Amino acid sequence: MVLVSEMNDVPFIPVAKVGDIPAGEGRTFAVGERLVALFFDGVAYSAIDDLCPHMGASLGSGPLTDGVVTCPWHAWRFRLSDGAWCDNAALRVEVFDVRVVGDAIEVRVPPVRPVELPSGDPKR
Ligand code: FES
Repeated sequence: MVLVSEMNDVPFIPVAKVGDIPAGEGRTFAVGERLVALFFDGVAYSAIDDLCPHMGASLGSGPLTDGVVTCPWHAWRFRLSDGAWCDNAALRVEVFDVRVVGDAIEVRVPPVRPVELPSGDPKR
């Protein structure tokens, strides 16, 4: 989790131009060391982590229906508004801020944080 105050330090990065993504589709873009799935529903843009938490498929190539993307491999569905898995909202993909500046579509993507292992004696 990234704190709001930390997010203010993360810049928006241009990844595409208005018109690059047809309505009802998504595309995948590399932003730093991460892959971002950017979707256009015909009105607004949405961005989520491209990596499906099931087995790693690219969500950016999945079909988009009513604000929900379906993973192209095994059909897990994720809401673009909050990243929740439609079958169990306890599982989520990360959602990123998106804005349009002129004809540029920009996303704000925090870097990946290293996994923190529990403290304690690893020999136990
Ligand atoms: S890899 Fe996405 S549902 Fe299996």
